[in-house]
Amino acid sequence: MRNINAISGLILLLYLSFSIHGGAAGASSIRRHTFVIKEASYTRLCSENKIMTVNGEFPGPTLYVYKGDTIVVDVINHSPHNITLHWHGVAQPRNPWSDGPEYITQCPIQPGRKFSQRVEFTFEEGTLWWHAHSEWTRATVHGAIVVYPKKGSTYPFPKPHAEVPIIFGEWWKNGVFETYKEFLGSGGDPNASDAITINGQPGNLFPCSKSDTFRLDVVRGKTYLLRLVNAVLQDMLFFAIADHQLTVVGTDGSYTKPFKSNYITISPGQTIDVLLEAKPSQQYYSSSSPMKQYYMAARVYSSNPGAVFDNTTATAILHYNDHQDWILHHSSQPTLKLPPLPSVNDTSASVAFTGRLRSLSTSSSDAEPVPKDVTTKLFLSLSINLQPCPNNYSCPPGGPFNGTVRIAASINNVSFVEPRSVDILSAYYNHINGVFRTDFPHKPKHPADYTGDRPFEGAATTHGTRVKVLGHNSAVEVVFQGTNLALGSDHPMHLHGMSFYVVGWGFGNFDERRDPKGYNLVDPPFVNTVAVPRNGWTAIRFRASNPGVWLMHCHLERHQTWGMQMVFIVKNGKGRKAQMLPPPPDMPPC
Ligand code: C2O
Ligand code: CU
Repeated sequence: MRNINAISGLILLLYLSFSIHGGAAGASSIRRHTFVIKEASYTRLCSENKIMTVNGEFPGPTLYVYKGDTIVVDVINHSPHNITLHWHGVAQPRNPWSDGPEYITQCPIQPGRKFSQRVEFTFEEGTLWWHAHSEWTRATVHGAIVVYPKKGSTYPFPKPHAEVPIIFGEWWKNGVFETYKEFLGSGGDPNASDAITINGQPGNLFPCSKSDTFRLDVVRGKTYLLRLVNAVLQDMLFFAIADHQLTVVGTDGSYTKPFKSNYITISPGQTIDVLLEAKPSQQYYSSSSPMKQYYMAARVYSSNPGAVFDNTTATAILHYNDHQDWILHHSSQPTLKLPPLPSVNDTSASVAFTGRLRSLSTSSSDAEPVPKDVTTKLFLSLSINLQPCPNNYSCPPGGPFNGTVRIAASINNVSFVEPRSVDILSAYYNHINGVFRTDFPHKPKHPADYTGDRPFEGAATTHGTRVKVLGHNSAVEVVFQGTNLALGSDHPMHLHGMSFYVVGWGFGNFDERRDPKGYNLVDPPFVNTVAVPRNGWTAIRFRASNPGVWLMHCHLERHQTWGMQMVFIVKNGKGRKAQMLPPPPDMPPC
């Protein structure tokens, strides 16, 4: 552990800071960070595991930047596994080369190799995160990115007394690689994690954990900014703090109109900024005096009745520092109370929270305004498929439905297949034929009652590496339609390269005539991930202003592995500033 601290300290001191002249935007600075990928031993739930880390840390180091900054991260792979790193929610204008998804924009960084990734922050402000984007390594290889307002400007809310990243993760006693291998071999659901973690710790309700439970020390009356990141692989979460309301002020690196809530719903991929006033709500505590400690708690929200999920509750402690007088009056602290959390399948609680998000303003930000002149419409059905065997498809005997099917997932009935010998970006850039096709369907082949009961015969999918090409600056509307195949599920859909506005959502089948009338084109939330509700639909809009190759996928890892992903190619526009940049010299070879 000593070593690890020394290394991260060193890295903190090491950043070389120098100025370049950034043209019209004024001077900005480029800092270098070193991310060494290596295995490290961690003990959780009473046993030790070797996990993949950055610089030996779990969760990984937080990157601190100012809006407008550019950083370079030197990624050095000292682990025995392939890896790539992705800067989740950072648009990376004209520079898909540094985006990170394996076999989409680069080949993996092999053991012993390195790759310097340039990360440019433009309109983003608030909290984002970075994570591995190679098989399931992101389970332990992830960390927060804090994007401060430009130097000289401030938050659109009073400056908090302190800021704290709260990162939700998971722990597998069996290890992530083993879990992934078993999952691929089984043809069915993966095993659930053994604990949800808060800043790397499962909390008081688990064996061998109590002394390490994450504790947030606060001073009564002060306000704290919690930067929540859901880095969990497989599930959305509910989060709350006993006897405290939270004020939501931002999501996905963009401010929101502030609103108060007793709980948060957060998808894998999503970040949420909340203000916490260190002042318990009077109405809740029963004793004459407030308590010294309160639980924060996180638990899974899982809408599919058949899905395997981690049924545990992670806790952390909110600790009031100013409590000598409390000790005088009470001999012992009463048992800590858990905050009430919505139940595990409470879809209405999930959408009730998410449906309240509104952007703070669309006029004062540097972001693209909400597109009104839609030129490209896509209607994308999101399905879990039960793929009959055979058909080039091996179904293990112990698999689902007595080994007669294998679970897959698809968008418009296409399960995405990643190329293996070259990535899509270099195939596109270098005009290599035969790697992908450009005929991704813009709507399902057969319109259907997507959310009604459907027989399994309709549940098979097709496989292909098919992309959707978008004209530069086209105004795109995507309607995601959930389907009831395999009983349906929420799907937190994430787009690389561009944030988007969530202009509408609802349950059931999308109605092309009725539903667009209810779109919010005034202050829709500007995000990079949105949870499409189970058996419902969500409409998003974005301007395809960023030339490059950009992945879009469900951020539930098993769904992504099953094929729920697709690729957009945004074409170059006119003029030098609308062209994709050339590749850096050190792109990792396949
Ligand atoms: Cu959070 Cu494709 O990534
Ligand atoms: Cu999904």
